[in-house]
Amino acid sequence: MILITGINGEIGSALAKQLYINGKNEIIGFDLNGPNQNLKKYIKKHYVGDIINQKSVKKVFQDNKITEIYHLAAILSSKGEEDPFFAHKVNVDGFLNVVQSINTSNIKFFFPSSIAVYHLDGNAKNISIIEDDFCNPNNIYGCNKLYCEKIGSYFEIFKNIDFRSLRFSGIISAYSLPQGGTSDYAPEMIHHAVQNKNYTCFVREDSCIPFMIMPDAVNAIINLMDTKKSKINRNVYHIQAFSPTVKDIYEKIISHFPKFNLVYDINEKRQKLIDSWPAQLNQKNAEQDWGWKPKFNFDDAFEKYLIPKIKEFYKRR
Ligand code: SER
Repeated sequence: MILITGINGEIGSALAKQLYINGKNEIIGFDLNGPNQNLKKYIKKHYVGDIINQKSVKKVFQDNKITEIYHLAAILSSKGEEDPFFAHKVNVDGFLNVVQSINTSNIKFFFPSSIAVYHLDGNAKNISIIEDDFCNPNNIYGCNKLYCEKIGSYFEIFKNIDFRSLRFSGIISAYSLPQGGTSDYAPEMIHHAVQNKNYTCFVREDSCIPFMIMPDAVNAIINLMDTKKSKINRNVYHIQAFSPTVKDIYEKIISHFPKFNLVYDINEKRQKLIDSWPAQLNQKNAEQDWGWKPKFNFDDAFEKYLIPKIKEFYKRR
């Protein structure tokens, strides 16, 4: 059985659907609330529970033979800054509750990490960095993610877990919006534009971090998890598809929605995070070890996925 914690979230629901389509339909969900009608189709069983409650997490493992875990339950970066102690509880204690509940060996464990683990200094924004550069986070979410990467790799040996992790940046879905992230401006701006609404952006127009669309993120998780262990040379990889500035996104949007109006109301805290994160990731490790290559570049992401699918999504509602 596959366990997905945080299954109601953006990645969780998209991943459950794709795993189900791929024939991996023994999926168990775990989240604070029950799944919606759409998600229900793809899962066998669901547990309503809090990841910080060790008993609730343990029960899932006692009741079922879990062979694969996707531990996605987390508090994102902007929300984490509002209450760092609570973020630590969910992101670190929650992670440990899952690891501690594992009752078999050789279990496959996927953990989504983040570019929030990086803190660039000086002019490093222009460098294409590798995974071991600048791992010195200045935010609670990045600290939590980096620590879980480390202890996940530690428990790989101590508890015989097959621990694999991807550092994501911004992910843009046509079917949902992120909650409490710092990269939220891109998906919010695009969803607003397609609904003929204007948008107030909380970071400057030259802000630049990597992004990818949800289908590429889900494929990356599945491909990494399907790769033979002997090919994998590290526990953690970072990946991206394109690196647009806010201005690039705006220009793309107005080429489709000329009436779209963008104004700025800068949030200094969120701007500081974006400025400290890399704009370009050197992806040679992921490319070499498990053949990572995104299917959608910036133009394709808009023309073949975001605009048509978001339009369809709001029409159906
Ligand atoms: N998308 C995440 C956030 O903004 C970063 O990986 O919190």
